[in-house]
Amino acid sequence: MTRALTILVGTTTGNAQYCAEESAFRAQALEIAAEVKPMDGLDATVFVPGQTYLLCISTYGQGDVPDNARGVYETLIRDKPALSGVRYGIVSLGDSSHAQTFCFAGRRFDNALSKLGAVRVGEILNHDASSGTMPEEATAAWAMAWLAQAFEGDSTAPAQ
Ligand SMILES: Cc1cc2nc3c(=O)[nH]c(=O)nc-3n(C[C@H](O)[C@H](O)[C@H](O)COP(=O)(O)O)c2cc1C
Repeated sequence: MTRALTILVGTTTGNAQYCAEESAFRAQALEIAAEVKPMDGLDATVFVPGQTYLLCISTYGQGDVPDNARGVYETLIRDKPALSGVRYGIVSLGDSSHAQTFCFAGRRFDNALSKLGAVRVGEILNHDASSGTMPEEATAAWAMAWLAQAFEGDSTAPAQ
């Protein structure tokens, strides 16, 4: 397994971008090459078998993916690429005041990716904007455990 991580960002007002940057920082501290990619202009071909992804995504409208993530999401649904060999994790931002659609965008991506054969590593981090915690701080704590799980058993891991 290569120690490389692509962090895909779906955001409207920037919180998910902060989460992505925090995750990249944590990854780099573990000598994992992390690249942060806003989803603007991308489509489902961004997912390459053998690679590991972290999606940092917020929810808008009534449980919708942000506008900048629509290209990726809609081509996953429309083109149905085979994604076995793709591994992913999800940081899903939302607000529990939207009780019926709390963190739905992360759930939508999780459903779409898993149906196409991709394998999720770990549990989704669902961050609630009404919780009083900063999403990037919650992500930092979660990311350390997620990164260890995603890259554990890697033969190229540096000696402890
Ligand atoms: C107009 C609007 C609609 C929203 N709709 C939802 C929603 O349906 N479900 C949810 O969990 N959060 C919803 N949210 C909350 C955002 O997902 C949350 O504030 C998030 O932290 C924003 O992250 P971002 O800055 O990366 O876009 C909504 C926020 C706004 C402003």
